[in-house]
Amino acid sequence: MERIQKIISEAGICSRRRAEEFIKEGKVLVNGRTANIGDKANPEKDEIKVDGELIKLQRKVYIMLNKPEGYVSTTKSQFGQKTVMEILKGLKERVYPVGRLDVDTEGLLLLTNDGKFANNIMHPKYKVKKTYFVVLDRELSRENYKQLKNGVEIDGKVIMADSIERMGKRRYRLVIHEGMKRVVKRLFSQMGFRVRYLLREKIGGLSLGKLPKGKWRKLPKKETELIFSDDLLSSSEKS
Ligand code: URA
Repeated sequence: MERIQKIISEAGICSRRRAEEFIKEGKVLVNGRTANIGDKANPEKDEIKVDGELIKLQRKVYIMLNKPEGYVSTTKSQFGQKTVMEILKGLKERVYPVGRLDVDTEGLLLLTNDGKFANNIMHPKYKVKKTYFVVLDRELSRENYKQLKNGVEIDGKVIMADSIERMGKRRYRLVIHEGMKRVVKRLFSQMGFRVRYLLREKIGGLSLGKLPKGKWRKLPKKETELIFSDDLLSSSEKS
């Protein structure tokens, strides 16, 4: 059982405060009876109407997509580009991407209709680490490694890599918890490099695994918890 205003706001009808106003105005019916402030209902079973409109509760879904390049990670595209939503055709629930990957970036993108979950992943407080496979235009020098560990200033903010590891010729694995838009490309650009290829392998402890490019799958709630698994939070969070 949950408070009615919470159910209404989570169904995306309006804010919690506005929902309270609807209740006060007598515009909310639960199973045909006018609701009062403080009433609770079962969102799975009870029929809730707000101002005559039956609210449809969406089951919370968590989608992992291996985004191919050439798709924008928004629900609508501004310039007629393909959006990741086209890949998710067939999915009944309305979901939206958690954060962004650039149009030419590939890899792990999460989509959900759970606002709280999405906020938590993106909130700086949780410092969720993202792991990227990066191909650069040239090799990093010893000095560059130091720079990445000590921090590089972007727009007045010092951005540090949690780790950087060489994977092959001009190939690196970068772990970073900073959530700034286009952070990886900006970081390397600031150091005089160009990112030739970028793929997100992991978010927190959740990895793409064997999911092929262009494919998606639903994540059981339990698996989503990997994102926040403690050993993957940054050391500054733990201290
Ligand atoms: N950093 C970038 O520069 N691009 C992405 O798509 C993700 C992180």
